[in-house]
Amino acid sequence: MKWENQLINHLQWSDTIINRENKERVAREMAAMAKDGDIIGAGSGSTVYLTLFELSKRIHKEKLHLEVIPASQEISITCVQLGIPQTTLWEKRPDWTFDGADEVDSDHNLIKGRGGAMFKEKLLIKSSVKTFILIDSSKLVNSLGSHFPIPVEVFPAALSYVEHELQKIGASEIALRPAHGKDGAILTESGNFILDTHFNYIDASLEQQLKSITGVIESGLFIGYDVNVIVSP
Ligand code: 5RP
Repeated sequence: MKWENQLINHLQWSDTIINRENKERVAREMAAMAKDGDIIGAGSGSTVYLTLFELSKRIHKEKLHLEVIPASQEISITCVQLGIPQTTLWEKRPDWTFDGADEVDSDHNLIKGRGGAMFKEKLLIKSSVKTFILIDSSKLVNSLGSHFPIPVEVFPAALSYVEHELQKIGASEIALRPAHGKDGAILTESGNFILDTHFNYIDASLEQQLKSITGVIESGLFIGYDVNVIVSP
């Protein structure tokens, strides 16, 4: 199967690769920064797939030696298909991590998690020496929550309790994320539900408030992280 078809197949949560040319440009820029011996964390989403593809070209043409720590099983499978060597967070710490985002504000706060992998994405970013967030300019917003909900990964038995607690801290809309193309709710790789939430006001404390609810595994809100944002116009 051609890699483009693999890309489309993997992106079950996204029918098309929006702004593909811009994403390819930023993917090439990122891949060009890889050096021999790098340990690289890879998030998820179409920009990450495109960057892995560019990295694989360098690995095969230039005999570049590097290892990738994937944020999801899908990304891990893609690495296998592209012949990119992998390692794990048990064995190594990433020199740098690259990832996409759904929204980025002027202080580089982020909403992520349209693909549902925000727990492992956050773990990679926290474990990394340096992080690059690759976006096209459509992802830049004046205030977070303009276009995308904040995804919250929830332990299944805690669903009702968490919904109630989210309302108490100001959630104005809460929706259980549906499964792709079938009945029922989507499950993360860890077997949890995702609640897509809207808040009228997103401030610096919200990420911690979400995390402190028993039953919340992680949220897609990234406030105050030390990330380098690369924007393709
Ligand atoms: C997945 C993510 C992605 O990085 C985010 O959704 C951006 O995706 P894309 O690169 O396809 O625009 O957070 O959980």
